[in-house]
Amino acid sequence: MRLCHCYPADAMTGGSEPTDGREFRRVLGHYPTGVTVVTAAAADGPEGMTIGSFSSVSLDPPLVSFCPGHDSDSWARMRGAGAFCVNVLGDHQADVSSLFASRVDNRFEGVGTRVEATGAPVIDGCLAWIDCRIEAEHTAGDHDIVVGRVVALGADDAAAAANGPLVFYKGGYGRVGEL
Ligand SMILES: Cc1cc2nc3c(=O)[nH]c(=O)nc-3n(C[C@H](O)[C@H](O)[C@H](O)COP(=O)(O)O)c2cc1C
Repeated sequence: MRLCHCYPADAMTGGSEPTDGREFRRVLGHYPTGVTVVTAAAADGPEGMTIGSFSSVSLDPPLVSFCPGHDSDSWARMRGAGAFCVNVLGDHQADVSSLFASRVDNRFEGVGTRVEATGAPVIDGCLAWIDCRIEAEHTAGDHDIVVGRVVALGADDAAAAANGPLVFYKGGYGRVGEL
């Protein structure tokens, strides 16, 4: 038997129009996300930006996605590399998230990195890293959906044992309890 729950719009309480940007952000902020820094070896040097829209997409082939905004200067410089690395932040790295969302000239100053398969920076202390080649880009409103094919990946078991994942919820950073 197929179960389908349909709720008429007037059954929702306190609903408002989705065209109000502040209300859209406020309501969507109730969905918690992990926090990543997506990096690339751009023509003028390493680039990176904080990304909450990262998602696992497909196992076979191995695909992931994230959504950079059309007004992102960082992504404009990064996309030419043809590859990127997703760095999964731990709850000890809220400062790294803030740094890679800020307007400073060189976000990598004082940040330890190494490279793996694609040449994109892997940030020290992250819980996991996922190296990808750009498979596809789709326009979606004022953002793009970038699909990456995973070419190499790894987890830092020591960092993951010592720290939980960094979480973004209702406009602020948090951490999860027992995992
Ligand atoms: C927790 C968090 C998650 C974010 N997620 C995204 C995202 O998914 N897509 C995006 O375009 N920007 C996201 N941002 C904002 C970008 O990091 C920021 O606007 C960008 O780095 C600004 O610099 P740019 O214009 O040089 O790209 C996020 C910021 C934070 C703090």
